[in-house]
Amino acid sequence: MVAKTQFGLEELLATELKALGATDIELLTRAVKYRGDKSMLYKSNLHLRTALKVLVPFTSFYAHHENQLYKRVRQIDWEQYLTPRQTLAIDATTNSEIFHHSKFTALKTKDAIVDQFRDRYGIRPSVDVDDPDFRLNVHVHDKLVTLSLDSSGTTLDRRGYRLSRTEAPMNEVLAAGIVLLSGWDGHTDLLDPMCGSGTFSIEAAMLAANIAPGKRRDFGFERWRDYDGALWSQIKSEAQHAERKFTGRVVCSDLEPAAVDIAQQNARRAGVERLIDFRISDFFDSKPSGESGTLLFNPPYGERLKEEGIVDFYKEIGNQLKHHYAGHTAWIISANAEALKFVGLRPTRKIKLFNGSLECRLQKFEMFAFEKHRGTEAQSS
Ligand SMILES: C[S@@+](CC[C@H](N)C(=O)[O-])C[C@H]1O[C@@H](n2cnc3c(N)ncnc32)[C@H](O)[C@@H]1O
Repeated sequence: MVAKTQFGLEELLATELKALGATDIELLTRAVKYRGDKSMLYKSNLHLRTALKVLVPFTSFYAHHENQLYKRVRQIDWEQYLTPRQTLAIDATTNSEIFHHSKFTALKTKDAIVDQFRDRYGIRPSVDVDDPDFRLNVHVHDKLVTLSLDSSGTTLDRRGYRLSRTEAPMNEVLAAGIVLLSGWDGHTDLLDPMCGSGTFSIEAAMLAANIAPGKRRDFGFERWRDYDGALWSQIKSEAQHAERKFTGRVVCSDLEPAAVDIAQQNARRAGVERLIDFRISDFFDSKPSGESGTLLFNPPYGERLKEEGIVDFYKEIGNQLKHHYAGHTAWIISANAEALKFVGLRPTRKIKLFNGSLECRLQKFEMFAFEKHRGTEAQSS
């Protein structure tokens, strides 16, 4: 199987897979390859917090032109996978001198499949890009074509809890990845002081309570011909029993009352509303609730450095951290690398990530707590 993820989260995904019992784990770029049975396939979809999709590659062949691709695809017995009355969708990615256009590659593949059904039965599966019964992934590297069953359906970042959106919400997979990268263990406070729609807080609370991220959604494999309903029920019931009580603190706050309201609605749908403290608060007037903790920030990026106030905004984040958050660790993700420099603290880690198509830096800042009589100091540059 191949679990796809975002750039920079591969190692976390491999660790998650190891914990699930996967074997032969191999890191790729934006993906992790591994081995497992049907139970592992179902568990991967239900439990992986940093995967976007779980694919099952089932054949590879060389094709030198599009007609050859068509011919090879048509030779596969597609009745193993779907019926003529079902719907299908094809996702294609190409990295090839010959197959330039992924859309055309997808179209040729689809034609080969539906032509096989039409010849046999006079009817053919129709295409439904939004909610198909069967989703196929085509990957072409140079002349090597790999076909994979897409067991997830819609991407796994769609956990099913976020119906209400604020501006620039963060993808759930990235948010979960940042919570995991921060190493937060649930014993100290987790602060999400510019929470927007609350993604960091919700992902953190789900992690702390061991709630499976896929608990509230459906998956592609549930419509497969070899779907094992009894096995799936058993895996879901095991996940339910593995949920644990979380007594730590996650604080989700924002300057905007509307954002806090949306975050709360989303948390309710995720089943973690009671695990999170919601507050309307300006970070620049805030004080920590405990002596130590982890802060996760996804502040506004500002399109350009010159955008009004963006430098001062980042400076002010740094000042607030320095003066009031001794003993805490802050992680800030931003696409504005220049503005990040104005935080004025020396980062102890820098990680390249992508928020959508925006290249970002995730930086870690540690505000050390020195002995009380010397007051509190931060590590400043
Ligand atoms: C990019 S959004 C965060 C998106 C969030 N990670 C999500 O997943 O939806 C930035 C948020 O910072 C909030 N914000 C800006 N200045 C603030 C301040 N001084 N104190 C608290 N929140 C602030 C905005 O209201 C906005 O909701």
